[in-house]
Amino acid sequence: MIKLDKLTKEFNLENDKIKALRDINFRIKKGEKIGLLGDSGSGKTTLLKIIMGLEYASSGSITIDGEKLSRDEFADWRLQELGFQSQHILLYPHLLLKNLIKLTRSIFNKTGRDCLEETKIREYIILLGLDKYLNHYPHELSIGQKQRFALINILIGKPNILILDEPTSALDYTSSNKLIAVIKDYLTLNNVTLILSTHDHRILKICDQIILLNNGRCERKELPISSK
Ligand SMILES: Nc1ncnc2c1ncn2[C@@H]1O[C@H](COP(=O)(O)OP(=O)(O)OP(=O)(O)O)[C@@H](O)[C@H]1O
Ligand SMILES: [Mg+2]
Repeated sequence: MIKLDKLTKEFNLENDKIKALRDINFRIKKGEKIGLLGDSGSGKTTLLKIIMGLEYASSGSITIDGEKLSRDEFADWRLQELGFQSQHILLYPHLLLKNLIKLTRSIFNKTGRDCLEETKIREYIILLGLDKYLNHYPHELSIGQKQRFALINILIGKPNILILDEPTSALDYTSSNKLIAVIKDYLTLNNVTLILSTHDHRILKICDQIILLNNGRCERKELPISSK
């Protein structure tokens, strides 16, 4: 379980103090699917980074399975458990997509993590319309294609905890639905904790709990009936 208690985050700039998160309290149980919804600047990415141990809270606490993790413990936890898709897609620019997949598999194998079966990877590649691009370099893809590929690359390491920061932000309606179908399939086959941030109400259908962030405050946790 991931537990956040009275968590706040301030960024202290030279002439300014930005309160990015204010009094955040919630729990994420193993296998739960959480959607973070909120306007631009409301604190979604900051909250995700704190949950992953990539950013520190100014006050309050975060515990994972009852433990406060040190920097090193967080790093190990991320290596073993996590799949994270950043808002900024980073892919090795000098590798063909097919070789990026090979590299990702071999890295995860070395760390002792299970990898997604090759047939499943292939299925997701076809579903997301990327099979034509396996002999292409990342710079030959559109932003939306990169976003779709990045998700597959993350799923290769079979994460137990999947954190997605606006995974459909660059996608049109159809591509977005296909991406949601891939995430759903992965969630059905694996017992995964999902935390995603989004502006896209459709993707919230795969979540059990919605956390609405407004100016750094957690406002509501109910799933709007229209999104169910
Ligand atoms: N490293 C930083 N230094 C200073 N301020 C920051 C930093 N990171 C975020 N902020 C500020 O914290 C607030 C929340 O930012 P955050 O990136 O978490 O928002 P967001 O909800 O993810 O927005 P978006 O939907 O645009 O991605 C913003 O006011 C932002 O300017
Ligand atoms: Mg963000």
